[in-house]
Amino acid sequence: MKTLPHVLDGVVIASEIKAEVAREVADLTARGIRPGLAVILVGEVPASQIYVRSKVKTCGELGIFSEMITPPESVTTDEMLATVAKLNARDDIDGILIQLPLPKHVDTKRLLEAVSPDKDVDGFHPVNAGRLQSGQPGLQPCTPAGIIEILKRSGLPVAGQNAVVVGRSDIVGKPAALMLLNESATVTVCHSKTRDLPSVTRQADILVAAIGRPGYVSANMVKPGATLIDVGINRLTDPADVQRFFPGDAERAATLAKRGSIIVGDIDPAAFDLSAAYTPVPGGVGALTIAMLMHNTVKAAKLRRGIGTESR
Ligand code: GUN
Repeated sequence: MKTLPHVLDGVVIASEIKAEVAREVADLTARGIRPGLAVILVGEVPASQIYVRSKVKTCGELGIFSEMITPPESVTTDEMLATVAKLNARDDIDGILIQLPLPKHVDTKRLLEAVSPDKDVDGFHPVNAGRLQSGQPGLQPCTPAGIIEILKRSGLPVAGQNAVVVGRSDIVGKPAALMLLNESATVTVCHSKTRDLPSVTRQADILVAAIGRPGYVSANMVKPGATLIDVGINRLTDPADVQRFFPGDAERAATLAKRGSIIVGDIDPAAFDLSAAYTPVPGGVGALTIAMLMHNTVKAAKLRRGIGTESR
């Protein structure tokens, strides 16, 4: 009899991490150090507003000080640079997060490089990318760090496993590949120019999909018994697509009718049935991102004051 795949519940793992962070915050606060996060949200992009609200709310729940800065859509790069410089200089701010995407007229790269690497809780600064690459302690991007936490806390082996990462973005694919390599996996990174992608992904014991295309990884691209990590969050609005990915799923059809869209990851849900374990969408990797941001904020507070932290 085939055993059912294990669902890697990101919500449960995120709760564990948040509880640990809350304990660390309480310890630091008792020593007169209250970790603080500044979030810059430009303009009125609804999705960004939802994310930022959630980040600020979680800070409150864990005892982290937070401050939201909300410049208008018309803000200039120079004005943003001045805001970042002030935050870099403030002792009560340990982490600075610039919510992306920024308006087209703002120089995103220049801004991300202006954030002090020691306060770069997104782990996007080239100095932190370099630290990750060279195995030095630093602040690491939240989503790929969340992937490692899911694997470790679920007791899944990484060392010696064949890990295939589909997608090579600076935010997820590349850092995920480096983190898996640092955990002694044998890592392959695939992208749009990869030849015969299914033959490569079928080698994966751990398959990470971070491409941003709904259900792109199909069942024939997966080795039975693999662990599937789905980073994608894609919105389906066409009933035909919903029927294709979730045939006969009355609940999802009803959600589509009610809300106008449903969420699917980068992996075709049919592939999950073949796996030993998989992260669901929603409720998998995405659930970890804010928990890891909180972890990074506390880590930044400690690193900046020379208080010991574990290497992660
Ligand atoms: N926009 C969507 N996700 C993220 C994230 O993780 N960090 C930042 N800064 N912006 C985002």
